[in-house]
Amino acid sequence: MEVEGIFPPLSLSAKFEGSFAYLTVRDRLPTILTKVVDTLHRNKENFFKDYGEEGIKAEKRAISFLSKLRNELQTDKPVLLLTDNAEDTEAWNEYMGRQQDLMEDGQPVSWFKSPWLYMECYMYRRIQEALYMNPPMDKFDVYKEGKTQSFFESQQAIKSLCTYLQELITNMENMTEMKLRENFLKFLQVSLWGNKCDLSISAGQDNSQRSNPIDSLSDLQRFIIVDDSNMVWSTLVAAQGSGSSLKKHARVDIVLDNAGFELVTDLVLADFLISAGLAKQIRFHGKSIPWFVSDVTKQDFEWTIMQTVAANHKWMSASGAQWKHFMKEGTWSYHDHPFWTLPYEFCDMALDAADLYRTLQGSDLILFKGDLNYRKLTGDRKWEHTVLFDRALRGFQPAPLCSLRTLKADVQVGLQPGQAEKLSSQDPDWMTSGKYAVVQFSSPHREQ
Ligand code: F6P
Ligand code: MG
Repeated sequence: MEVEGIFPPLSLSAKFEGSFAYLTVRDRLPTILTKVVDTLHRNKENFFKDYGEEGIKAEKRAISFLSKLRNELQTDKPVLLLTDNAEDTEAWNEYMGRQQDLMEDGQPVSWFKSPWLYMECYMYRRIQEALYMNPPMDKFDVYKEGKTQSFFESQQAIKSLCTYLQELITNMENMTEMKLRENFLKFLQVSLWGNKCDLSISAGQDNSQRSNPIDSLSDLQRFIIVDDSNMVWSTLVAAQGSGSSLKKHARVDIVLDNAGFELVTDLVLADFLISAGLAKQIRFHGKSIPWFVSDVTKQDFEWTIMQTVAANHKWMSASGAQWKHFMKEGTWSYHDHPFWTLPYEFCDMALDAADLYRTLQGSDLILFKGDLNYRKLTGDRKWEHTVLFDRALRGFQPAPLCSLRTLKADVQVGLQPGQAEKLSSQDPDWMTSGKYAVVQFSSPHREQ
């Protein structure tokens, strides 16, 4: 229940037995840890080939670190300070101190008693510690296989998307503003559904094997439960300036989520924004370490563009070449501030990452992709569903922003009265199945 006024509602936590947080910490996180250990086992030969005995010893040590971590998690041990002396180690250990101060009757911070957001982020950072502490494992991306597989499995959808994009671009000059808006909304929705990692969602259709993501959009429309696309469009148009002061300098920031197919949908959207003259500059924000299994790192970003350039498909390789050119000339840039792989709620950013907040204040529109970003935007708290999105942001308003999110965790605000109840009666797991989505907008300039 949200306490009106100064205190935000409680954080989602595995301390609430039976909650989605509880099931994630009890079942899903240990499973993910086991998969990481299996990946290291499966790559043993490569480590030996690349590093000899040293590689085998490091792999063994990393696995023992991870097995110890899994035991701590499954037996709800107090969380431990990080000891790997990395760039963000101090911030993590300082945050643990903050969380300790919040614990009731001095209980230690632990997996089944502390906020889910913190504990899930902490697990991924402890996985990185196991690698950092055992070079040459420190450069190994334990999630790489899954991320590249998502790219290779989506080739047909990617080719269709690039074809659609490039054919639009070749006819751009005589595109009416209405067509421009219509196509922008299509690419925005493709990027939104990309967050499901694939568009093979049946959407109740029996021909869900459509290879062209654009064809699926109309069937998926009804699963968008908050749609502020119009405000996103008018923010972009306003950023062009008007009449003589046509600035045409709009800068759009995309806070990325998953690699693979989702990243391609983001690159296609970004290409359309530049090619249609809706933006002059795109800043991509990715993760500085492998994160939440499928999140984009700098290596993933560069690999995806290189793979697209190398594709034996006319429009795909043309897109890749264009993207490579955008990066070279600085129209596009990639950034990976450590803040994005720390456990902070975004309302902490102005204080805990003032430099990043200032950078984001220079944006005309910030697109936040995915579920984890939504949880951090709203602080992963037990808000009433009808609380305004602006309220749940608790002062995080660097620039006009929009969340493009498929629901995979039980936090959702900004709904109409009765909307959550209706969804629950139709689909009990509407908040966690990934079947529903939001395009949710907030702007510092909009009346509160
Ligand atoms: O619930 C599944 C989960 O691990 C959430 O904890 C997390 O927010 C989400 O998946 C990650 O999804 P996304 O990649 O869309 O951020
Ligand atoms: Mg993700």
